[in-house]
Amino acid sequence: MLASGTGSNLQALLDHPAVGPHIAVVVSDSAGAGALDRARLAGVGAELVDRTGYSSRAEFDAALLERLRGEGVDTLLLAGFMRILDADVVRAFPHRILNVHPSLLPAFPGAHAVAEALAWGAKVTGSTIHLVDEEVDHGPIVLQEAVPILEDDDEASLHARIKEVEHRLFPQAARLLLEDRLVVEGRSVRVLSAPVGHEVAR
Ligand code: GRF
Repeated sequence: MLASGTGSNLQALLDHPAVGPHIAVVVSDSAGAGALDRARLAGVGAELVDRTGYSSRAEFDAALLERLRGEGVDTLLLAGFMRILDADVVRAFPHRILNVHPSLLPAFPGAHAVAEALAWGAKVTGSTIHLVDEEVDHGPIVLQEAVPILEDDDEASLHARIKEVEHRLFPQAARLLLEDRLVVEGRSVRVLSAPVGHEVAR
């Protein structure tokens, strides 16, 4: 898992019985990330990849990729990782990277999705769990759920309600990916009732 924030999504994933045991390592690019503390508390490897230690983005991404390969990682889960992943990293894990984004994509991509939904005067926003491709907040959508925007919402109250949804949706999507139950057809993701190769006969 790559996470730079408080790690509430990491916690939801760790607490899910079908997902938690698969989390091998948590990598953050921020020394103060709550996610690293949560990983340590759960007895999961916690690694800081400090961007200031690298002279270029390419060098940082190469180091990140090397760490992930070294851990034998085959799937990446992203929650608030504050770096845009380099194309080489994305290509190293084809259709094996999930991201959680706090809006109903394709509305409000980018780092300020909650504030922008409020500023736009939208009545509904939500949570999107999507596969990561080489463009930002763009890959095929796995799960999505709407969250109404209330008249007295501010960024904190709205984000807190979105996170409640994220904490349910992200483990659900991670489980489907880990069980090989996602089939990507162009931009569409089909969910199988059984893992690939074990489809239930109809
Ligand atoms: C989440 O709201 C996620 O949608 C966004 O970053 C936030 C991370 O929160 N990409 P947390 O660190 O998991 O609490």
